[in-house]
Amino acid sequence: MCGITARIGTDESLEPLVSSLENLEYRGYDSAGIAIQNGTGIEINKFEGAVSKLAAEVSTTDHDGPLGIGHTRWSTHGPPSDDNAHPHTGCGDRVATVHNGIIENHDELRTALRDRGHEFSSDTDTEVVPHLIEEGLANGRSPGDAFRAAIDRLEGSYAIAAIVEGEPTVYATRNGSPLVIGIGETANYLASDVPAFLQFTDRVVYLEDDDVVALTDSTHRITDAHGTAVSRPVETVDWDQEDAEKGSYDHYMLKEIHEQPVALRQTLHGRIGGDDVELSEFPPGSFGEISTVQFVACGTSYHAGRYGEWLLSKDGVDATTHIASEYAGSPPPADEHTLTIGVTQSGETADTLEALERARERGARTLALTNVVGSTAARTCDDALFIRAGPEIGVAATKTFSSQVATLVLLAERLVRDLTGSPTDDHTARLDALASLPEHVETITTETRAAEVSRRCLGDNGHFFIGRESAYPVALEGALKFKEITYGHAEGFAAGELKHGPLALVTEDTPVIAVGTGRDQSRLQSNISESQTRGAPVIAIAPETATDLAETADVFLPVPATHPDVVAILANVQLQLIAYHAASAMERSIDKPRNLAKSVTVE
Ligand code: AGP
Repeated sequence: MCGITARIGTDESLEPLVSSLENLEYRGYDSAGIAIQNGTGIEINKFEGAVSKLAAEVSTTDHDGPLGIGHTRWSTHGPPSDDNAHPHTGCGDRVATVHNGIIENHDELRTALRDRGHEFSSDTDTEVVPHLIEEGLANGRSPGDAFRAAIDRLEGSYAIAAIVEGEPTVYATRNGSPLVIGIGETANYLASDVPAFLQFTDRVVYLEDDDVVALTDSTHRITDAHGTAVSRPVETVDWDQEDAEKGSYDHYMLKEIHEQPVALRQTLHGRIGGDDVELSEFPPGSFGEISTVQFVACGTSYHAGRYGEWLLSKDGVDATTHIASEYAGSPPPADEHTLTIGVTQSGETADTLEALERARERGARTLALTNVVGSTAARTCDDALFIRAGPEIGVAATKTFSSQVATLVLLAERLVRDLTGSPTDDHTARLDALASLPEHVETITTETRAAEVSRRCLGDNGHFFIGRESAYPVALEGALKFKEITYGHAEGFAAGELKHGPLALVTEDTPVIAVGTGRDQSRLQSNISESQTRGAPVIAIAPETATDLAETADVFLPVPATHPDVVAILANVQLQLIAYHAASAMERSIDKPRNLAKSVTVE
């Protein structure tokens, strides 16, 4: 939801800033801009459109300098346009700012500033910030004090970076939006996310809410809301730059689908021992006081949560899953015996963070199941469990879903043992199957016929994804992935619900994609027949041993036969590939689907 970046070095910053914005483009791509302090003043270039447009425009400029800020935008206030693109300035060009988040009291601030003679040139909430800083400077404050005085006036969620003409410092702060410092040899960096500067440094400092940083080319001075110096640890991230690049793949999404065996190996590494799990974070008995589990999440992570709920419920644990924004609006009962698990790849999704806060207020123990070690969710929850999938750049989540569900299978083992006193049903076979997932995914990505099958899904009126048990959340996920990147209508249903309404929409123009787990096949087969009777072509995705489904369906996409509790993770890989190839044939913007952003840090 917008990416901000900054660099201050002993050399020139323009090229590294453009590169950082390219790495941050998954957070927004409506417009992009850079402000550089070039010795004579602040030079701003900003344009509606992708970072590539900005890159082309600035490639011919000779305005470079050691200090700059950059922004890639996902619009919230004001449509995409050159004027609404960041950086924004005050009345003159003495101050430039970039912002991620929402300033809730911007109307009131704008009116007051207008009354004092300030003129605005954009529709954005952000623009009040440089005007406020400008006013502070005009009143004789130092740049650092003017910055602090300006942010003291703001309400809402934000990460902001600002530069002031003639000052060799980047001023920045965060409140509810992520911000991380990168410590380099000859330059320091600041960004919404680590991949922005991972090619330059892997040494990072995660900022906390209300921290204010003054960044120079060799120092980072952090103070809290009261101006008192605070110390934040310098950490080394273990992501490779190669992980964050596209390599030979046409799209990040395809690369990330193919990375799933590696991601899953990382997820599972050292966490399965004999017939139990070895979660160093949660030894046996860790959840002794818990009686109820709630998952809160959005989008793909919500589907992973639904999978987790199914895993727990089948073994006797009281578990529910909640769409985070709904949970935040009307929280269900929770107390000190409740474990509320925020499933969030980024760890920065505002709806999920708010739901976790509501749970915390009610006394629940909170746990972040996330991919990002320094994320807000990881830092604010009582506990964190990392899915270790590596950086995911494509807006459509793929490898992180697989790693989330694999992590939930591990966590379910610990929770079921702690809450019921017994291991999960069939736990040895299930953990063996979990350990084999990486090689099974490899088989799918090597042998899949998804590209050919996806041609059956082009130009149709609707696409219905159905499944039962653990295949139900995967059907929901398959539909989300399909609609997200093809822009085609797609819905997921519990297979048994088809006959209670959605069947009215099923015709020869609505392919039905049925996901089977190998368990209770006959009922799914009936649902397939119900669809075929209405003329719908049916694509079945199920274990290769499900010969009955293979015979019934019009098209059969097999996955390696494995334990029915985890096989839907494999079926989901086929669904990812169908969505990818259909979107590719339609020439969609796969890595950056229209209107969407990777990390949704607004409510
Ligand atoms: C998935 O393809 C989407 N990009 C989206 O639904 C995403 O899963 C959701 O916004 C939640 O993000 P999070 O996992 O970072 O919290």
